[in-house]
Amino acid sequence: SISPVLLCGGSGTRLWPLSRADMPKQLQALAHEETMLQATALRTATNSNDLQFEAPLVLAGEGHRFLVVEQLLHVGCPPRAVILEPQGRNTAPAVAIAAHWLARAGTPDALMLVMPSDHLIGNEEAFRAAIADAAPAALAGRMVTFGITPSEPATGYGYIEAEGDIGPVRRVRRFVEKPDEETAVAYVARGMMWNAGIFLFKASAYLEALATCAPEVAKAVDDAVRIAEIDGMIFRPGGAEFAACPSISIDYAVMERSDKVSVVPVDMGWSDVGSWDALWRVTAPDAEGNVVRGAGALIGCRDSLVRNEGGPFVAALGLEGMVVVATGDAVLIAPRERSEDIRKVVDRIEDEG
Ligand code: GDD
Ligand code: MG
Repeated sequence: SISPVLLCGGSGTRLWPLSRADMPKQLQALAHEETMLQATALRTATNSNDLQFEAPLVLAGEGHRFLVVEQLLHVGCPPRAVILEPQGRNTAPAVAIAAHWLARAGTPDALMLVMPSDHLIGNEEAFRAAIADAAPAALAGRMVTFGITPSEPATGYGYIEAEGDIGPVRRVRRFVEKPDEETAVAYVARGMMWNAGIFLFKASAYLEALATCAPEVAKAVDDAVRIAEIDGMIFRPGGAEFAACPSISIDYAVMERSDKVSVVPVDMGWSDVGSWDALWRVTAPDAEGNVVRGAGALIGCRDSLVRNEGGPFVAALGLEGMVVVATGDAVLIAPRERSEDIRKVVDRIEDEG
């Protein structure tokens, strides 16, 4: 069986003012009725002949503990464990804690399916088929990534070059995390894939790779896990020990450095919904190209995203390609194509306290 591991620690600043540190994007219902965390948990909540899943392990920050558990219980996906990081140290150490948790549960060779909790997957059948394809390679000790055909030379993703072109699982020749723009253009031209940020491997394979590729991370996590506090389903690694861990993602720490990485190319309607523009693109717009949510009046608007989450009544006239997001305490108005720059707004607000 496979143990889903849900990464639930990010902050999603480009989706301000909806996504905030205390209510980040993965805990919100962006595109569907369910929140993104709930949708992620539901994706592995049903078993089939070729895929058997355990209840998920969830990795989150202390501050989100109640929301995370409540959201999962609400959709009938009680977690097997909730691992609370005393502070964010990025994904390489977070995933290592989950691997240790499985080892301590007596299953060091358990398969872990590591999933960001803030992505959309339109074609769940393709997703499940890709996992079934990846499982034998993972059982044989490979760390399997999932490759997406790029739609543009985005710089916010990892890029994967596969060896050979036969079979659903291919060895990875190189993995490059977040290249600069010029490099990304060249990678897309070479036919390299985007890393979906989803991984399948044995807990033991990950811990071995981490010990080789990033020994200081492995050591800090070992120390923090040894003195962990366990309280029912809650698992808290030691604070001071974990604080000493370098902050680094699984992509930089392990995927770029290991020679045991494989990839399963998959077309599954994947989007990481990193911005309002990305959300507009993946949400079916109406006949005028608008994506509207929440009460309001739109007249003569085109290709715009208008969203009201508890703000005042919103009326819009003649907008083209704009984003308007109103909440109880903030309103954003911006051209849709400048969605990436919204992190500048957040930086400015943080600077001004
Ligand atoms: N628990 C926990 N703790 N979760 C975390 C932490 C942490 O310290 N840091 C990030 N996460 C969660 C985020 O919430 C997200 O769900 C996931 O881990 C990935 O982190 P991101 O910060 O969103 O990574 P990224 O988007 O820059 O890059 C990754 O995803 C891309 C695809 O969206 C990489 O894997 C890229 O290679 C990949 O292309
Ligand atoms: Mg991301």
